[in-house]
Amino acid sequence: MRLDKFVCKSTDLNKIDALFHIHNGHVSINGNIETKEQTQVHENNVIKLNNQVLTPRPFRYIVMNKLSGTICSNIDEVYPSLFNSMQIEKVSELHIAGRLDADTTGMVLITDDGRWSFAITNPQHKCPKVYRVTLAKDIAADAKERFKQGILLQGESAPTRPATLEVLSEKDVRLCIVEGKFHQVKRMFSAIGNRVVSLHREQIGTLTLDVEPGQWRYLSPQEVHSFSKE
Ligand code: URA
Repeated sequence: MRLDKFVCKSTDLNKIDALFHIHNGHVSINGNIETKEQTQVHENNVIKLNNQVLTPRPFRYIVMNKLSGTICSNIDEVYPSLFNSMQIEKVSELHIAGRLDADTTGMVLITDDGRWSFAITNPQHKCPKVYRVTLAKDIAADAKERFKQGILLQGESAPTRPATLEVLSEKDVRLCIVEGKFHQVKRMFSAIGNRVVSLHREQIGTLTLDVEPGQWRYLSPQEVHSFSKE
């Protein structure tokens, strides 16, 4: 973690104030004054501000059931940020591990632990994401096989990784993917001549959605840990 982030995470200082203290020689790492905010610090370093040892707040791990018409961003854009409804301290420290489109509903994981979110979003880790999809047209007979083989999406150089399609009815399917390309699910169905009408993420890893629309809760330590094993 960068030194300025560490100082913010361990105090009530905002970034500007943290930079002031770092640049003015008030912060030390293992007894040596450090004035560069980008210096990387580790858990076993002793970081002091004005000779007081700093201890970062514990990381936060949250699951939310995102509403349609909200965006996975820390700031409002065309639609309001999903953080608006959260009433939680230090929102600016949080980020989303795998964004959903404004019109997509369902499971969003929120954290301030960059390593943890990387385990979820890095395609190499093959963390499964399960979507319930309503389609405009009946699902094609060969869709299951095509998604299993992987399909080349427009503008991509490599095909999608094998995905699992479960057909629930002609226009209602469940899709499990292990990566998260931009608009991936919508583009996959578009590539086979169909269109997504509604999209809901119901599972990430082994965690299934159990909070009401618009609500959120903290993950248990076991749930947090389950993603490191993916
Ligand atoms: N794929 C999409 O196309 N949209 C989402 O929101 C998530 C996955």
